[in-house]
Amino acid sequence: MGAFSWAPPRLCRLLLPLGVFFLFLLYFSSRHLPDLPHSACIWGGRPCPWFGQAPPDKEDEEKIPPRPVSTEMPSYGLTSETPDSPFQEHQFQIQRLISAFKASLTPNEQILLQGYLSGWKELIKFMDALGAAFGLISRETQNKISIMEHHQRGEHGHHYRTVQSMVTFELANGLVGFQFLPEDQPPSGCRTLLRLHRALKWLELFLHKLRTSKKDGDPSQMCAEAYREALAPYHRWWVRQAVALAFLAMPSRQELYRIVSPKGEQKGQAMLLAAIGNLARVYNITQEVYASHGMLELP
Ligand SMILES: *[C@@H]1O[C@H](CO)[C@@H](O)[C@H](O)[C@H]1NC(C)=O
Repeated sequence: MGAFSWAPPRLCRLLLPLGVFFLFLLYFSSRHLPDLPHSACIWGGRPCPWFGQAPPDKEDEEKIPPRPVSTEMPSYGLTSETPDSPFQEHQFQIQRLISAFKASLTPNEQILLQGYLSGWKELIKFMDALGAAFGLISRETQNKISIMEHHQRGEHGHHYRTVQSMVTFELANGLVGFQFLPEDQPPSGCRTLLRLHRALKWLELFLHKLRTSKKDGDPSQMCAEAYREALAPYHRWWVRQAVALAFLAMPSRQELYRIVSPKGEQKGQAMLLAAIGNLARVYNITQEVYASHGMLELP
């Protein structure tokens, strides 16, 4: 087989299809996890009376004045953008990421889910820019966002306005499965958000490593380190192996900076700093809410 006479760098190219195949395997096997049969409910358009007839709870009604979450936010002196063209809609824009996470925090530190999820949608575009091998991770994330949006559209949607109101509502109605994931209910909002919350730490760490990296820094290594710190402890062995393969085929540091900001590295670092600051604030507050209710290890 001539394939084995290839130079070593080619080996990585050989590993990539293998990795993609592995990820597909992972994806299709994950379809059989108890998590996913509900996707029929979520995307099939049938009403799903999961919550039974629990009486509406007036206790935790929101007292926050309505505040529109929009992507047209002030630019904080960091950019002089022209308005988005439809083409740019699909491209990652760090300014939108910053705006969404900034807008998700109210002055009294409530986290608005709408802004939080908009921020995540921008992070998905970022992951998609990291390469095809990130497809599985970004799909799983999209799946979690869909579950959250399903809760928001549901009968009890008004309880899903902020992280805090969601936690209060689900705790008061026994919807948080502390011991196991109930078979006959949708994954709770608390459980679903916890997955996003952990992944947020991973991306926060990765962006931090990217921002503080030297010119010869290797993004694959940064991403893998961030993963080991933030997510690996929650994943099974074979998931960790599959994810490690995805990290092998990442864009160079220079390309990543171009994705972050076309206006040069210095600008990119300023934007990264702003993004990390906003992610970290939202992360820290969510962490406190979850820790104070003993919910950091939901199954
Ligand atoms: C978030 O929490 C970490 C660890 O407790 C702390 O070091 C960091 O400064 C906090 N960041 C923000 C923006 O609150």
